[in-house]
Order: sequence, then C-alpha cells, then structure tokens
Amino acid sequence: MYPLFEWHGVGNGMLMAIIATYHILPCHLATGAFWITYFMERKAYQENDMDMLDFLKKYSLLVLIFCFVTGSLTGAGIWYAATVISPRAISGLIHNYVWGWATEWVFFLIEIVTIYTYYYTFEKISPKAHMRIGLIYAMSAWFSMVIITGILGFMLTPGKWVQTGGFFDGFFNPSYWPQLFVRTAFMFVVGGAYAAIVASFMKNPDVKEKAMKVAAKWGLGGLVVGGVFTIWYFAKIPAVSRTIIFNDLGFTQTMFKIAIVAGVLLFIYFVIWGLKRARTASPITAIIAMLILFVGICAGETMREMARRPYLIPHYMLSNQMIDHDMKAKGVTSEVAKFDKTGVLPAYYFAPDSVKKINESNFMAAGRILTKLECISCHTLETSGFLSIPRLMVGFGAKTPSEVHDFLDALGDYDYMPPFVGTETEKRAMAAYIASLVDPNQKIDPAWVVAGK
Ligand code: HEC
Repeated sequence: MYPLFEWHGVGNGMLMAIIATYHILPCHLATGAFWITYFMERKAYQENDMDMLDFLKKYSLLVLIFCFVTGSLTGAGIWYAATVISPRAISGLIHNYVWGWATEWVFFLIEIVTIYTYYYTFEKISPKAHMRIGLIYAMSAWFSMVIITGILGFMLTPGKWVQTGGFFDGFFNPSYWPQLFVRTAFMFVVGGAYAAIVASFMKNPDVKEKAMKVAAKWGLGGLVVGGVFTIWYFAKIPAVSRTIIFNDLGFTQTMFKIAIVAGVLLFIYFVIWGLKRARTASPITAIIAMLILFVGICAGETMREMARRPYLIPHYMLSNQMIDHDMKAKGVTSEVAKFDKTGVLPAYYFAPDSVKKINESNFMAAGRILTKLECISCHTLETSGFLSIPRLMVGFGAKTPSEVHDFLDALGDYDYMPPFVGTETEKRAMAAYIASLVDPNQKIDPAWVVAGK
C-alpha cells in the first residue's frame, strides 16, 4: 500500500470528478469534431462555398486550441490526480493495460500531427489531400476512444478478467460495446454544440444558417442515438449498480433527472436555433446550450462513477485500494481476509511503528489512520466537508463509540460501501476516533477499545 492523499473538506472523489468531467468536453470534442468537419468540407468544395471553408478554418482552430491545450492539461491532470489518490488502482491498470495505453499514445501522436497539419495547410494543398488529413485525424481520434473505452468499461464490468486476468477478457468486457456506442453518439453532440457556437459568431447570415443546420443535425442525431444506446448501457451494467443509481442514493437519482432535462433542453435548442431560426442564432444561446451540455455530462459521468462503488475494479480492488478477491491467474490472494485476522495497521508500511499494536494510549492515532485508510476515498472528515463522516454519522444517529461500532459492523450491508476491514480492536479504535469527531467533548473509555481482542 502507498501513502495517503487527502483533500480536506472537498474530498478525493470530488477532485477526480472536477478534472475528469471537464476533460470529457475537450476529449469528446476532439473525437467528434472532425467527422463533422470532414463532411462539411467535402460539401463546401462540391458547392465551391468559400465562406463555409472560412467557418471550418475557425472551427478547427477552436478545436485545436481548446482540445490540445485544456484537453492535454486535464488529461495529464487525471493521471496525476488518480495516481496520488489511488496509486494501487493505477498500478493495476498499468500492469494489465500498458500496451493499451501505448497504442493509445500512438493515436494521440497521429492526432497531434494531423490536426496541426490540417489547420496550417488550409487552402495551401489540394482539397483532396487536405480532406484526407482531416479524415486521418477523425479516425485516429475516434480510435483513441475505441481503446480508452475498453479500459474505462473494465473499471465497472471487468467480466471474465476476474477469473483469467487476460487482457482481452477485461478489454472487451460486458459494458464495452454499449459504452463505445454511447460515447460515439455523444461525441457528435459535443461536436455539434461547438459548431453551433462558432456558427453563431459568423457574420454572413447564409453561412451561419448553413453551418447551424449542419451542427443541429449532428447534435440531434447524436442525442437520439445516444439516448437509445444509454438504455442498452444501463441494461448491461450490474444489477447492483442500477440499484445504487436508481434506488439507494438520492443524489444519483437527481443526477439522472438532471441528465434527462439537459438532453431535452439541448434537443429543443438544436430544433429551434439550429433548424428553425438558424439565422437569428446568437452566441449567448449557443454558449448557454454548451453549459447545459456540460451539466448533463457532469450528471452522467457522476452516475457512472457511483455505479462502481464500493470498488475501483469490481470484484477485485475496493475503493480503499484493498484487494478482496483471490485471483489464481495472477497469483493474487485476498487481503481483506488476511487483514481481518492479522490487522490492517501491521501491514501498512506507512503507519508509524508506534500505532501498529493498539493500546490504551495510542488508539486515537491508530483510529485516525484506519479511518483515513478506509473512508477518505469517498468521504471527508471535516464537519462542513463534502460527504462528511461526522455529519452523516449524526444523521444516521450514531454518536458514542459503541453506536459507531454497530454502524461499522453493518457497513458491508450497504451496496456502495466496502465492509470494515481489520481486527475487532482496530474496529473499536476507528469507532472511538469517529465518535470523537462527532462529539469531541464525550469521554471515551480506553478500556473499551482494548477489550476488543
Ligand atoms: C466507496 C465509497 C465509500 C467508502 C469507502 C465509504 N463510504 Fe460511507 N457512504 C458512501 C456513500 C456514497 C454514502 C451515501 C451518502 C448519501 O446518502 O448522501 C455513504 C454514507 C455513509 C454514512 C451515512 C449512512 C446512512 O445510512 O445514513 C456513514 C455514517 C458513512 N457513510 C460512513 C462511512 C465510514 C465510517 C467509512 C469508512 C469505514 C465509509 N463510510 C466508507 C460511500 C462510501
């Protein structure tokens, strides 16, 4: 195990969510945009429409700057954040998918080379050669999605990999195809929404109308097809994930409603300003539509992330980075079973030696480390924090060490939380520490903690 990273008050999950959700915009734009560009450019040359080429030039510059500056920054940011928050999960992914990432980077490289070449050779080389460069970009960008979706899907439905540990068993997992189709459809919505922003700035009303109509058609098509594939996706994820999203948690149900409303509003936007009143489309409405799309994406990705709970890699690694599964193929044995007998702290390299054996004077320090190890991947410890443990504990009605202890006993009954891992004394030390967060003034009896042997 590794040292712990903690963002006080905000939480590690929130940090990932902020970076990753933002990243979705540039990365789906990067993949979706150039299909639209390719077909528009072909049409523009067929109709000898120079104004449309001007639009495409502006659009591809926006894609270039937005995706390859903010997209690259947040892409690297996801790696940094995930590596400090869950180093073991990232290590697991690297060990299984290093050639997947390597392949992905080859396609990134092709993307970077072709998008620059595309932009700087506008009207400088033959239309045919120029369109080919655009098409190579579009295909390599989409292909990077083909690869990353395998790894993303693996983190929710690892399928046969759990038994075999095989690369392709994990890659072509049960939710692979639906997720690939959902993302492919929604990349056109992102591409269409961006095209609408650029189109709304065009001065020539004919170009504006034409570009808005194309943007709206791609956007509407993506929304409808993406919606249908989303239903397929929900059918393919594990039943417990559906229960977590639709029954257990209030906020994922709200997220679901937000995603639906965002989809409907975008649909209306594309119909009204894209098809009916394209000439009067203003940048303000286009930017509002983009913000709505962003909110919808946030909601959708939050649901997908919550569906993974209480795992980082289902049936293999829990959110607290402990392995709860024997996997003969990889020579891995369950740590949870072992830690329940021999304790978490003796096995945690970064815990000071002074807390490895719990006694009447060190139990608070031990409980604090255990709580951080097992809970801060999802919770914060500050009362005013996001998903704050002391606040939730008050809501649940547990205040004293023994009440918190009873709650910890039942932790594994929640669909979305891992069970408590460790010995009885460790459980009591954690209960004592959490109780001290809930009510710092209560007296905690050290004898009760060490009696848990
Ligand atoms: C995998 C993520 C995850 C981990 C790890 C996790 N929790 Fe939770 N916990 C949640 C979620 C999600 C909720 C639901 C919050 C809500 O309803 O708003 C929750 C709810 C709770 C609640 C309120 C329960 C209720 O029924 O009202 C308490 C108390 C709690 N957690 C304590 C803990 C403690 C203590 C730990 C560490 C031993 C822990 N959790 C580990 C995700 C997690």
